[in-house]
Amino acid sequence: MQTSRIAIVGTGYVGLTTGACLASLGHQVVCIDNDESKIQMLRACSIPIFEDGLDSLVESGLSSGNLAFSTELISSVEGANFTFLCLPTPPNNDGTADLTTLFDVLHRLKGKFASGSIVINKSTVPVNSAGVVAQILAQEVAVVSNPEFLREGSAVHDFLHPDRILIGCDDLSAGEKVAALYSSLNCPIMFTDPLSAESVKYLANAFLAMKISFVNQSALFCDAVGSNVLEVMRGLSFDPRIGSMFLNPGPGWGGSCFPKDTRALTGMASASGEPMSLVTEATATNEKHIHRSAQLIIEAAQNNEASNVKVAILGLSFKADTDDTRESPALRILQIIQDNYENVVAYDPQAKVQNGVVNKRVNTMDEALLGADVVAILTEWDEFRNLDPIHARNLMRGNVIVDLRYLLNKEVFCDSGFSVRAFGI
Ligand code: UGA
Repeated sequence: MQTSRIAIVGTGYVGLTTGACLASLGHQVVCIDNDESKIQMLRACSIPIFEDGLDSLVESGLSSGNLAFSTELISSVEGANFTFLCLPTPPNNDGTADLTTLFDVLHRLKGKFASGSIVINKSTVPVNSAGVVAQILAQEVAVVSNPEFLREGSAVHDFLHPDRILIGCDDLSAGEKVAALYSSLNCPIMFTDPLSAESVKYLANAFLAMKISFVNQSALFCDAVGSNVLEVMRGLSFDPRIGSMFLNPGPGWGGSCFPKDTRALTGMASASGEPMSLVTEATATNEKHIHRSAQLIIEAAQNNEASNVKVAILGLSFKADTDDTRESPALRILQIIQDNYENVVAYDPQAKVQNGVVNKRVNTMDEALLGADVVAILTEWDEFRNLDPIHARNLMRGNVIVDLRYLLNKEVFCDSGFSVRAFGI
């Protein structure tokens, strides 16, 4: 495999993972960010996000010399033959993607690229952005769209074991050079046009979000008719047309991608004259589900006869194995519970939460359980999955667990005197 000189602009979870993984594949990578303190931290091998395996990859990249960190945008890009754009595209108030950072960077880089180098966009950007980027750069370099499909919490694994690599390009020889960067990974590589590549990214996330909304709505249906949603989903999962993944009911979907990308997609679809009502409905269903989930906890607390009912919330991040709480259903549910009850404590092993959002956060699960009347599980951390019923029973005052991640064995917990609640079990 040929070693390439790669500049990665932006060291968020996509940029940092991409940089560390490409360095581990043998390329010479420099990751660039305008945040001086972040670059200092990364040079000292201190990773700003909780992401399994990323620290050891960064460490080995730094010690092999394949990975470097810099705040020097222009000189780093001048020396590269591939420049990956991994910049934030946060939502504007109307849901459209804010491309200010991307455009600022491109204007600074215009005229600075090495001859024959290639710009690769990994940020999630509106359909036709590759065309806009090429226009800004006045055809100075080839522009390739290469969307990422990493999940937070398993980003390194997903990068090194991808389902597919998608290359959107008008210039096939540029696309093939980008594909060659990944030649040591074993997966299908699909070449398509940039508009289609950019569309895949949004439609894949929207499809997955719709799937979870369907599962969560099915849980309500199962609850109403008396069937068991876990059994029902298992029954569905044997059909390869449905698949076994993303069939877990929960408190609703969230994170930094699904909410933002579904909003951007429905906006783009409406603007195109072909509104995607299924996606709009999936989002509305998700909103309702987050509130229904909060209501289930409130009902459990209301039915409790103890004075000054104590509610313990387990989990604040939007899913397990990440410290990310952006658009986290768990955090939103906590806020609703806090608005209704005074004696609420929350525990999460990693979640990063802004000051003032959580009224009372404790440092261990045991502290949260101690004296609790109602416990609600909102994130599927293994620590919660492994909860021992006898231990929990000894710590708690009450006996109600609202298991909105469906982690516990209901029968075992009921045998230990618990009442376990969730939709459709
Ligand atoms: C998602 C996609 O899965 C990635 O492929 C994509 O690259 C990424 O967005 C992105 O666009 O950057 P991520 O946001 O990390 O990844 O999280 P997911 O694992 O997809 O979970 C999203 C939400 O769905 C979470 O709130 C999770 O708890 C929920 N979920 C997921 C369920 O409630 N049930 C499931 O069965 C699966």
